[in-house]
Amino acid sequence: MPHSMSLFVVASLLAFAPLCLCAKSSGGYLYPQFYDRSCPKATEIVRSIVAKAVAEEARMAASLIRLHFHDCFVKGCDASILLDGSRKITTEKRSNPNRNSARGFEVIDEIKSALEKECPHTVSCADILALSAGDSTVLAGGSSWEVPLGRRDSRGASLSGSNNNIPAPNNTFQTILTKFKVQGLDLVDLVALSGSHTIGDARCTSFRQRLYNQNGNGKPDFSLEQNYAGKLRQNCPRSGGDQNLFVMDFVSPAKFDNSYFKLLLASKGLLNSDQVLVTKSAAALPLVKQYAANNQLFFQCFLNMIKMSNISPLTGNKGEVRRICRRVNSQ
Ligand code: HEM
Ligand SMILES: *[C@@H]1O[C@H](CO)[C@@H](O)[C@H](O)[C@H]1NC(C)=O
Repeated sequence: MPHSMSLFVVASLLAFAPLCLCAKSSGGYLYPQFYDRSCPKATEIVRSIVAKAVAEEARMAASLIRLHFHDCFVKGCDASILLDGSRKITTEKRSNPNRNSARGFEVIDEIKSALEKECPHTVSCADILALSAGDSTVLAGGSSWEVPLGRRDSRGASLSGSNNNIPAPNNTFQTILTKFKVQGLDLVDLVALSGSHTIGDARCTSFRQRLYNQNGNGKPDFSLEQNYAGKLRQNCPRSGGDQNLFVMDFVSPAKFDNSYFKLLLASKGLLNSDQVLVTKSAAALPLVKQYAANNQLFFQCFLNMIKMSNISPLTGNKGEVRRICRRVNSQ
């Protein structure tokens, strides 16, 4: 190899050196073979029902990935998000981030009832959420990973945790990063996992502020590309239309790819929390650029989903394996 060539190789290796940070962590106490003996068909059953649901409605892949995220950020990945309200439970489904927004619960119910038939009282709802998120990523065209398993289900929920821990679309970059750090996740995780917004929808109410009154002075967010902002205003009026839906990646709304990062660089990120990754952080910007330039690298770093999946699981004899994901086993 000519000298200049080897220099080039070394230089490009160096350029990618920080990306070793993207190496996924192991599952800790969790491991992919957890159900190999107790319910060998578990992963296949989950996969087939998620595949059917996504075939019926492409958006369901996005909704299931988000359910896992909103579960893990509240008391760990313990299926607390799935509990309905009752005398003892104040449901997380009514929190600001989840109300009129979190969806996919019926798909989880269908998976759970199939698993209860195959191997009663064995596969936790928390593991169903983790597996569904992995399957959804693959079905949408993204990377695949072996999902560490063995989580158990909570016997309670936390509405305040749901309201406080899950970042809001108008949080500052610092607040969002802090909310990730509280969960043991870092800047690399924040940027890579935000790449989930390459699929799925957001409601008008989640970004209206940017269109009309970004800083309380009646002016729009000038970090949003003007033509795009104008198009958004057509279906997201100053008042009303709160629930109107908009795809977050208008180039390839149902395809899991790095187009989200390319749009951020073009000032066409839909949520304020998306755009701040390029406008408010000198540390996040280079990551956005690298993912925008290199889809494989984004896929590699998206494996850090395993880190998110591993937030404070209940293991051993903690918690329980629910028979119905919407309620605890006995009051
Ligand atoms: C970084 C901070 C984040 C903020 C502020 C945020 C905020 C939001 C908001 C406001 C929506 C639209 C909800 C609606 O209007 O109904 C949304 C959708 C979504 N989010 Fe995030 N998110 C963040 C990170 C993540 C992460 C880490 C994941 C996954 C690992 C994720 C996955 C999704 C998906 C897939 C959707 C589309 C859901 C659907 O179409 O049903 N988000 N997010
Ligand atoms: C963020 O959005 C919420 C809900 O729409 C609103 O009540 C709040 O005032 C906004 N915060 C900021 C700092 O703009």
